Amino acid sequence: MSFCRWPVHPLSPLLPIPPINKSFSLQRLFCLSHSLTMDANSKIRDDDAPKQPTSFDFLTRKAYAPPSWASHLNPIPSHVFRLGHLPTPIHKWNLPNLPNNTEVWLKRDDLSGMQLSGNKVRKLEFLMADAVAQGADCVITIGGIQSNHCRATAVAAKYLNLDCFLILRTSKVLVDQDPGLTGNLLVERLVGAHIDLISKEEYAKIGSESLTNLLKEKLLNEGRRPYVIPVGGSNSLGTWGYIEAIWEIEQQLQTGTSKIKFDDMVVACGSGGTVAGLSLGSWLSTLKAKVHAFSVCDDPDYFYDFVQGLLNGLEAGVNPRDIVNIQNAKGLGYAINTSEELKFVKEVAAATGVVLDPVYSGKAAYEMMKDMADNPKKWEGRKILFIHTGGLLGLYDKVEQMASFAGNWRRMDVHEEVPRGDGIGKMF
Ligand SMILES: Cc1ncc(COP(=O)(O)O)c(C=O)c1O
Repeated sequence: MSFCRWPVHPLSPLLPIPPINKSFSLQRLFCLSHSLTMDANSKIRDDDAPKQPTSFDFLTRKAYAPPSWASHLNPIPSHVFRLGHLPTPIHKWNLPNLPNNTEVWLKRDDLSGMQLSGNKVRKLEFLMADAVAQGADCVITIGGIQSNHCRATAVAAKYLNLDCFLILRTSKVLVDQDPGLTGNLLVERLVGAHIDLISKEEYAKIGSESLTNLLKEKLLNEGRRPYVIPVGGSNSLGTWGYIEAIWEIEQQLQTGTSKIKFDDMVVACGSGGTVAGLSLGSWLSTLKAKVHAFSVCDDPDYFYDFVQGLLNGLEAGVNPRDIVNIQNAKGLGYAINTSEELKFVKEVAAATGVVLDPVYSGKAAYEMMKDMADNPKKWEGRKILFIHTGGLLGLYDKVEQMASFAGNWRRMDVHEEVPRGDGIGKMF
């Protein structure tokens, strides 16, 4: 075991050297030198030849080169941190009641990790590499009280030995109380994220940008070097996460045994970054699948404009209305579920073993199935890739609403005369 010696930056000799202060102790450097490998000269791709990640790639920083079909985009990220367990599997999803000859397949981005699971890890691979390149000693981000993005950011930050500051939005009546340990909050608090609560009203009035800037100013005044990640990690840099996912799917289709060509891709849309990357990637690559996004908050017009901004930030020269169809799946409102939606989540789990989250993929799949029932001709004979974007921990927030139909249990019927057999211990 050896300590990382000053003045070499633990991540790159080229990066500015952080001063030793309360927040960046030698002990922290020690952890950092052991949890990360500097592999920045090894590229993730050479001339578009697939490079299978190895298990030792996890938490390493690599020089980034885009797929050839995305090489005209600008700016191109210089580095990426391997944070996800990639590639995620693709398999057939035997949903009941599909239109004639319709096939639905699943891209399991819910399996991109455990604490770091879901779609956010793909964006964080680029955002965290940038945070480190800028010499940040902490990250700030913002979201709803059960934000999967905030949870993933808190975990990724800790892996990279950065502090994490979260601004979480909750109701007016709960904003002055301990937020508890349900779902994503448990993970965030276990990994030591700093949590600031804000009411929905304050969030709507002030806006996420001003709120994160307020916290940034405060931290700068305390001598910290914060890096701000916007809501959902959705900016032009984060968009590369799903441009890369398209490349991953392309490789899977080229090297896999199933000779399948997807006609459509379906995904939930919450802050816009995933759909921006997917639709741009699908349009530029050989995939050319039609992308359908189901928005779980705001409305489709808002997202067309927002995605346009992300694409402009990459000089993509394309109008989102030409590459993605965005439909409303908000229902009762963001993160609010009808019992019908939750029953659907239960039925899908019971029929296929796939557990959807209630806020994103649950609503998107619910609306997709509704659309298939209402307009079967639109979907008949099509091969659809549904992107499961994760968010399982959000289900813990719905246990009360699901209790009445979540499944049965019974007391095991054991007669007193059943003799004890040999086996392992009594477990008490
Ligand atoms: C589990 C999950 N799925 C989908 C989304 C939507 O992705 P995006 O924010 O990139 O639109 C989010 C976040 O908003 C999420 O947490």
